Amino acid sequence: MSVVIDNIGQLVTNDASAGEGPLGIVRDASVVIDDDVVVSVGRRGQVADERIDVHGACVLPGFVDSHTHLVFAGDRSEEFTARMAGRPYDGGGIRVTTTATRSASDDELRDLTDGRLAEAHRAGTTTIEIKSGYGLTVADEARLVSLARERTSETTFLGAHIVPPEYEGRVDDYVALVCGEMLVGAAASGARWIDAFCEIGAFDADQCRAVLDAGRRAGLGLRLHANQLHHGPGVQLAVEMHCASVDHCTYLGDDDIDALAASETVATLLPATDFSTRQPYPDARRLIDAGATVALASNCNPGSSYTTSMSFCIALAVREMHMTIEEAVAAATIGGAGALQRDDVGCLKPGSKGHAIVVDAPSYHHLAYRPGVPLIRTTIGPLGGVRPVG
Ligand code: NIG
Repeated sequence: MSVVIDNIGQLVTNDASAGEGPLGIVRDASVVIDDDVVVSVGRRGQVADERIDVHGACVLPGFVDSHTHLVFAGDRSEEFTARMAGRPYDGGGIRVTTTATRSASDDELRDLTDGRLAEAHRAGTTTIEIKSGYGLTVADEARLVSLARERTSETTFLGAHIVPPEYEGRVDDYVALVCGEMLVGAAASGARWIDAFCEIGAFDADQCRAVLDAGRRAGLGLRLHANQLHHGPGVQLAVEMHCASVDHCTYLGDDDIDALAASETVATLLPATDFSTRQPYPDARRLIDAGATVALASNCNPGSSYTTSMSFCIALAVREMHMTIEEAVAAATIGGAGALQRDDVGCLKPGSKGHAIVVDAPSYHHLAYRPGVPLIRTTIGPLGGVRPVG
């Protein structure tokens, strides 16, 4: 059964050949979707079996959130409160969430994850990546990947998130476990990507290289958390290893910006994290001006960024990181798609997924202009591509 979204005042296609400017804007438009796929983008008045009249509203591709840690149990609001009183974020709370997550049942984790997915879907996200990383045993990492796989095809194995307490002082033994038995279990449970946290207090560049190498040999795509809390070797490593994405990029040197600009690795910026951890924001302006490809993602997790709102990330990127509204909207849609090496989402053109959001506003500018206001009137399309939620 086909459906037409009709009477669109301003349509963002992210297809520069279809309309004005880099966002490919089409005015007075309609989009026909058949069986979850866009079949035609044209002027208003196209026909289909069913019609959704949006009365002049703005329509965009659904948001592509390429970095989340949605499968977890427990609460860390006290850690946030302490941080607001001056205690710095250091990633140590990952162990608190690991303890709570290990003791939660599969059904408890499913319910918690579904609640967060429903929230993200209401806020306009139609494609989402979900990492493991709060299990940190062979069985628990396989369990978290498998629970994530029930809800999205973009699943990431993050066994190298932090060294669990039982391996304290034996980091190399833990890395060997991650690269061996734990990776086998995660891959068998449906992981598409492998990731590691390259940071002081987590894993160094050699350990991350070993993890990424093992993941590549197991057939997984590569991504890396890097330069979140300090300047370090992570961005260079991600470029050297041809990672699809290097995430955070809060502390960058000139060499990092040059390396990213000359690479195909997407710099995924997570401004809600820098907001919640009271850190400086990444230098998006220099990255973009140098020619790097930039994505925005929520990094939804209980420690450093407990939000599912991509609109909030857009508003921060514009206000705090000096991205233009067009750059921020692109980074939250087609930029995220690039970070996941997908060309079927993040845009609205014939052949792409018919995943769209109707914004209660005449233009996409309102996403940055009206921060904190729930402007997403309707989200069209399932979240995750496996089973609709919300
Ligand atoms: O991306 N940096 C590592 N992982 C998460 C934080 C996880 C946590 O604090 O629970 C991040 O910020």
